[in-house]
This record gives sequence, structure tokens and C-alpha cells, in this order.
Amino acid sequence: MASLPLTTATTTTVAYSSSSSTIILSSPLSSWPSFVKPGQCLTTRKRNHRFQVSCKNMHGGDQNPKAGSNNDGETFQGKFDRRNVLLGLGGLYGAANLIYDPSAFAAPVPGPDLTTCHNAIKSTNTGEPVACCPPQVGQEMIPLPYDLPTFTKLRTRRPAHEALVDPDYLKKFRRGIELMKGLPADHPHNFMQQANIHCAYCNGAYYQAGFKDVGLQVHFSWLFFPFHRWYLYFFERILIKLLQEDGSDNDGTFALPFWNWDVPDGMRFPPNMHSGSLYDPLRDSKHISSIIDLGYSGEDVDKPDDQQIQCNLSIMHTQMVNNSSRPLLFLGGRYYAGDTSTPGQGSIESTPHNQVHTWVGARDQPYHEDLGNFYSAGRDPVFYMHHANVDRLWTIRNTNKFMERDWLNALFVFYDEDLKLVSVKVRDCRDTTKLGYFYEEVPRPWEHLKRVRRGKKSNIAATVDPSKLSTFPILLTGSSTFLINRPKKSRTPSEKEEQEEVLVIGPIEFDSGAYVAFEVYVNEEDDVVKSDTCDAEYAGTFASLPHKHDSTKKSRPKISYLRIGLNKILEDLKAEDDDAVLITLKPQSTGKGVCVQDAKIEYMN
Ligand code: C2O
Repeated sequence: MASLPLTTATTTTVAYSSSSSTIILSSPLSSWPSFVKPGQCLTTRKRNHRFQVSCKNMHGGDQNPKAGSNNDGETFQGKFDRRNVLLGLGGLYGAANLIYDPSAFAAPVPGPDLTTCHNAIKSTNTGEPVACCPPQVGQEMIPLPYDLPTFTKLRTRRPAHEALVDPDYLKKFRRGIELMKGLPADHPHNFMQQANIHCAYCNGAYYQAGFKDVGLQVHFSWLFFPFHRWYLYFFERILIKLLQEDGSDNDGTFALPFWNWDVPDGMRFPPNMHSGSLYDPLRDSKHISSIIDLGYSGEDVDKPDDQQIQCNLSIMHTQMVNNSSRPLLFLGGRYYAGDTSTPGQGSIESTPHNQVHTWVGARDQPYHEDLGNFYSAGRDPVFYMHHANVDRLWTIRNTNKFMERDWLNALFVFYDEDLKLVSVKVRDCRDTTKLGYFYEEVPRPWEHLKRVRRGKKSNIAATVDPSKLSTFPILLTGSSTFLINRPKKSRTPSEKEEQEEVLVIGPIEFDSGAYVAFEVYVNEEDDVVKSDTCDAEYAGTFASLPHKHDSTKKSRPKISYLRIGLNKILEDLKAEDDDAVLITLKPQSTGKGVCVQDAKIEYMN
């Protein structure tokens, strides 16, 4: 099993009452889009319809829809044909030798087609357009493969709460951002143009290269970590270049800071960000000096600071330890060339990455600008520090043994610091030292956290009152509880080492134009004070920021999945011998309704 590297153990125990923090979905059913009837979830969906049509065209007949179907409902044959299109092989003959290699049926996401870049939209609900395509430099928008420079000296990314109180560092960082902001508006290195990179990749400005109408989305899948690593890499290289030209980084040490929100000292907004070039007016003014809530729902819950800190550490433990035991749980689902929807977020992307965005964005702005919506997130300098921490967590939960070709070969396109349009691959960003930087080692107080079980009963699933259970599909208007039978129980340590027991919740239908979230609890007793994220019963959170989710034009609920690792939590809850698990979903936030179609247990290598 690929387990987390261990560091010095600091054991912390959490036991807090949490009755004040229960959040009930605030929006009534009337806030659903009008085509959804109250009390009913949409149950039919057609995925990859566009592609099935092309199958017919190529072979003059329908494919057997069941043959080789993967869990996205798409056929292997479909993937295979699409790969042919991508490779320009013109049908089955040229690629016949690929037919027995299952990974050959897919193809890596080919990166954006810059020549067909179009307006992005701020949210699927309003369709309000926003222009964020990259400016054109030179004749053509055709990227060349990037040559990684060799680095003789590595730069150190330091925690923001330390770096930004160092006057020399603060001066440099401020100066760098000021220089970026001072460039001509249409210069690719201008701060707003850098912010627009995020808008274009995340709010629907791009089609995938080679596909006329298939959008590109770098969230909700295994592209999340690598895209943001490359994005920050070029942003940092541009800052360094500007500082050097300005004579402000002559010792060659400048690197981005990281917002270390996973340790108590880093849990407030980074210091000295409220003036000069680091200031952004579009932040939630109520959060400027409070402890961050890594489980933020869109509403403040007013926990005492020490309790909030412990709940934050508990969330970190759940996501980095319990829910990251397998590379795909951590990275997010497989997303291939031509896919018209995204498969699901990895643990950290879902939580706390999304919550930090929402906690910083201004709640009184129409789209929660800046950090609360992908189109505007990059306009706040704190974005780059937030994502440096996300990136650092990837170095901790190293995935270097994960070698799926279609992940390694996925492409992105950026302007480098010399204004060259370059394409980069996932495979080349996996080791930060090859990109010229590393993260300062800091404590990980969440790693060996011990949490207290709130429930007292054993075998809860067997004693539950069936009349209190929900049946699928579940429209979340308040907490809902259901039972999932476990195909295997009392697994041996080596069986558990071999395979993670994964709770797959979904398809989840949700409104991608709103902030949407629900928490998941395992074996929460209904007759005790409600659990919260501090407790051992807390299993994870599904969360989505307003954005444009895929290439479909209409404002409809989108589909995703949440995957939760059960090995560790069942050990902690002493429930490994139970026949079933009791799952409670607690919707939170100001977001609109969520419909959960199904849930099941799978085993993941
Ligand atoms: Cu691309 Cu934190 O989002």
C-alpha cells in the first residue's frame, strides 16, 4: 500500500461538544432550477451522447453499449475510436496492435485549443460572459513543447505567516506583484492576465484540442494537482524574472510563500496582505482576522478558536490520511480526452481546498468574488499562496508510483517567462526539485491525530430504526441517513493493505452555479448530539464552488461522485466486523439542492 510517509508523531486528542455547529440546508426547494420538480431528483442522464453518435458514423452500426463499459457509462470501444481520431489513424486498422492494452482505449487530455478560445461564463446559472482568453503574441497560437531548465540552486517556498513578517521578503513579494500589475493590460504577464489563466481553464473558455465542442475543465479530476503546480510554476518564474530585471532579487532566493492553513499558526489570513499590491478588496471582511474554518459551509458557526483549530486538524487528518490511501482517492478521478464531464474530486480538492476559496471570497458579491469563484480566484494574490499549500500537500502525499499513461501525458499550455507559448505534461511536474523549488519542512499536527468517537453503541447499523432511513434517490433538504451493506467484513490487515474499502457516493446531481456542500458521517448515532468535523465519525465532505462544469450549454444540475476511504475510519470506530455501515449526509451551505442517486462500496487497489 502506498502509505503516507511518517514524520515525528505529535498526538493530539479532540473531544468537543458540537451542538452549536449543526447546519441545515438553508435554501428551500423553490431554489431548484425550474425543470426540477420539488421532491424529485432528475434520474435520467445521457453521458457522452456526442461520442456515441460518432461511433455510429465510423462503423455504420451501434456498438454494444454493455461491452467493456467502464463506470462512467462509456464503452471501451468508444474510447478506442476516440483515440484513433486523436492519433489520426483513421479507423481500426492502423491501431490494431493497441487493441489488447486497456489503457490504449483512452487518450490523455490534449490541452486547450487556443485558436477557438471563447468567452467563459461566470456561472451556469446566469450565463454571464467574461472574457479571459490569453492575449496573442506573435503570429500563431501554437504551443511548442517546453524544455525544462536545469536548476543549480533550489528555491525554498516558506510558510506565509513567517515569510510575510520578514521585511525583506515582504518587500520583494510586494514589489513583484506590483510589477506584474503595472505591465500593459494585454501583456500575458500582467497580473490580470495571469488571473485569467484560471478563468479560461476553469470556467469554460476552452475546447480540448482536436475536439470541436468538448470543454476543458481542470478541476474535479486527476488534472487538479498537476494543472495548478504548472500554473504556479510559471507565475513564480515570471515574478522572479520581473524582480531580477528590477534588481530586486539579486541573490536569487525569491519563491512564492505558502498559506500554511493546516497548522494552528497559519490558520488566519496571511499577515500584511491588506495593503499595497497584495491587497484585494473582494474578500470577506468578516474573516480578515478570524481563525479559518476548513469545513466552511458558507455560514459562520462561531466555534471557540481552540475548538475550530482542532476541527481543522481533524479535517486534515480525514483527508490526508483516511481519504488518501490510494493515488486516485487523493488525485481525483480519471479524466480522458473527449470526456464531456469530469469524474470527481480528490480528497484535498474537495476539502479543504474548496472551503478556503469560499471562506476568503466576499459573501456579498454576486459570484463570491474573488476567491469564491474560479473565474475571479486568481485576482487575489492569496490564491497563489493557497495553491502553494495545496501543492505542498501533494509533495507530502507523494504519488510518484502512479504511472497511468493518460495522466502522465495530459497537457496544459502556458506562456513562460520569456513569452514563449509552451505545452507541458503532467509527467514533468511530479518532482518539484526538477522545477527548481521545494517546500520548507513544517510540522504536521494532523498526521497522527487521535479523535474521539461520539457514538457509544456497537454494531449501530443492526440497531437502527428502519423508518428513519432514506431511500435513493435522496434529495438533500436536511440530514439523511441510509445503510450500505458491506460485501466483505472482518478483513485481515493484508487484505486491507491490498485494497481500500471505498464508499462511492453518487451519481450526485448538484447545481454547479452555486456553492454546494454536504458532510458525510459514518455510524453516527441519531440519539446523540450531532457529530461534527472534530469527531471520529466525520468521513469527508463533498463541495463545489460556482463554476462552469462542462461543455453542455444549458443550466442543469451537474453530476459527480464522492469517494471516501473506509479502512481507517472503520478501525477507529471499531466497526470492522459489522455487516453494514450507517451513512449520514448533512447538507450545508447557502447552496441549492443536491440529489444523491446512489451509493455503494467498491474495493480499490
Ligand atoms: Cu483552480 Cu483552487 O482552484
